[in-house]
Amino acid sequence: MTNEVIQNILTRRSVRAFQEKPVEREKIDTLLKCATYAPSAMNRQTWHFSAVLSAAKIKKLAAAMGEALGSPNYNLYCPAALIIPSNVEGGAWDNACAMENIMLAAHSMGVASVWINQLSDTCDDPRVRAVLTELGVPEEHKVFGMAALGYAAAEPRPVEKKYPVTIIED
Ligand SMILES: Cc1cc2nc3c(=O)[nH]c(=O)nc-3n(C[C@H](O)[C@H](O)[C@H](O)COP(=O)(O)O)c2cc1C
Repeated sequence: MTNEVIQNILTRRSVRAFQEKPVEREKIDTLLKCATYAPSAMNRQTWHFSAVLSAAKIKKLAAAMGEALGSPNYNLYCPAALIIPSNVEGGAWDNACAMENIMLAAHSMGVASVWINQLSDTCDDPRVRAVLTELGVPEEHKVFGMAALGYAAAEPRPVEKKYPVTIIED
C-alpha cells in the first residue's frame, strides 16, 4: 500500500551539500508550523524554534561551534537555513518529533535537510551559548539536534535500510 505521504517518507534522504539559493520564506514558515504540530508529551509544547536564514549568522554559529569542538573549519555543511529546535531538560523526544516533521515537510517541498547533532554537546559552551542567545534560543533551553536546510547541491548518499521487524499475529 502506498500514497504520497508514504512515498515522501520513503524517499527522504539526508543531504550534506547545499546550493547558495535561499529557501523561500513561505516554505520556512510552513516548516515552522509543521514543527509546532508535532506530538509533545502531555502536550507540554515547551519547545522553541529559531529559524536562521542569514548566511552571516549561520557562519557565526558554525565558527563558535568550531571553537568549542576544536574544529576550525567546521561549517555545518554551509546550509541556506537552519531551524534550531530547543527545549527544557527532558524535552528531547518532543524535539525529535518536531525534527522529523521539519525534515519530511521540507522534502515534500523539494527542500533538502540533514539533522546536525553537534549542538547537543556544545550548546552550553559559553562561546556557543552567546550566539544561541542572539538567535533567540531561551537561556534555560538545551538543543538536542537542529535541521540544516537548503536546495541540494549533490545527490544524497544511498543508504541501506534494514528491516528489523517482528510481527505477532496470534
Ligand atoms: C539523532 C540523529 C543525529 C544525527 N546527527 C547527524 C550529524 O551530526 N551529522 C550528520 O551529517 N548527520 C546526522 N544525522 C543523520 C544520519 O546520519 C542519517 O539520518 C542516517 O545516516 C540515515 O540516512 P538518511 O537520513 O538519508 O535516511 C543524524 C540523525 C539522527 C536521527
